[in-house]
Amino acid sequence: MSKKVIVTGGTGFIGSHTVVELIAAGYTPVILDNLSNSEIEVLEGIKKITGVTVEFGQIDIKDQAALTTFFHEHKDAIGVIHFAALKAVGESVNKPLLYYKNNIGGLINIISCMKEVGINNHIFSSSCTVYGQPDQLPVTENSPLKPAESPYGNTKQIGEEILREDIASRTDEGKVIALRYFNPIGAHASAEIGELPLGVPENLIPYVTQTAIGLRDELKVFGDDYNTKDGTAVRDYIHVVDLAQAHVVALDRLVNHKNKEKFEVFNLGTGQGNSVLEVIHAFEKSTGVKLNYKVVDRRAGDVEATYADTSFAKNELGWSTKLSLEEMLASAWKWQKKLDSKKSV
Ligand code: UD1
Repeated sequence: MSKKVIVTGGTGFIGSHTVVELIAAGYTPVILDNLSNSEIEVLEGIKKITGVTVEFGQIDIKDQAALTTFFHEHKDAIGVIHFAALKAVGESVNKPLLYYKNNIGGLINIISCMKEVGINNHIFSSSCTVYGQPDQLPVTENSPLKPAESPYGNTKQIGEEILREDIASRTDEGKVIALRYFNPIGAHASAEIGELPLGVPENLIPYVTQTAIGLRDELKVFGDDYNTKDGTAVRDYIHVVDLAQAHVVALDRLVNHKNKEKFEVFNLGTGQGNSVLEVIHAFEKSTGVKLNYKVVDRRAGDVEATYADTSFAKNELGWSTKLSLEEMLASAWKWQKKLDSKKSV
């Protein structure tokens, strides 16, 4: 049986870590990525860790013709893990059509190519953002979805809907697992791959590590008047390596016909909620570096608190996280120290 897997967005943050775990599990990933938010050097990092030179195509998922050619070249693949997407919430508010074209148009192109060459197993990157502010915590897969706060969030909801409806209409062997990520952070223990934010980061951890290393003067904590343990917002931070391994388990499930529905959804988190201040203090403790931070107003569109109910993933996938918040932060710090500091300015 073929062990080839097409990984879109495979040079990105979660994609590159998943490629490493796929190789460790005996799969042969091939990457397609347009390098809009990643760098070709990531392939060297993957090679240093795994010893494998991964086949790569610089292709934009909006380019249906190039995509079709790539899929025909790799029609022996047994599955697609589809990461390629834009993910900056703020940017999506200013450029909604760009987000719909890329994340929705691109998804439709991927599905069409898979059907054309007969690849049936699809793992889709979704997000806990589909739940908005959940009414009950921890949030289960059956929690109601809330109207999206941003075009980015909407693309994840619509993406899931498109996949669900397409799968329901099909008579072939097509099947999908949508994975709703909570907040992925950290880096590979080797520090050969990690998160590469272009420009000023929007997400908390790259901002923390860039402040700690002196690239940013001060970390802004967005709001301390939430109804949480210390007033700052609560999230479920998950180590990117744990998250990557969940993709391998999900793919195994589809390949081995262990899925119970043609379209399944899993939350991927640790089940633990941590506030922004807890993250800051855990970072200081695990690295010994003091952070310069200041509390400012809330950030528009942020929810107060969200964390995952992990029991469905645990029971059905047999997967759960292994790495602690301290390990997540220590690995992110090791990666930041290794990055050429000029790159991020
Ligand atoms: C959000 C989405 C997530 C999406 C991600 C993409 C939710 C619940 N999550 O993550 O689905 O994939 O954006 O970017 O909608 N913070 C600060 N200072 C900073 C940066 C962040 O205090 O400089 C705080 C935020 O207010 C938040 C927490 O840190 O409380 C995490 O923020 P961030 O890393 O941006 O992730 P989310 O907004 O949770």
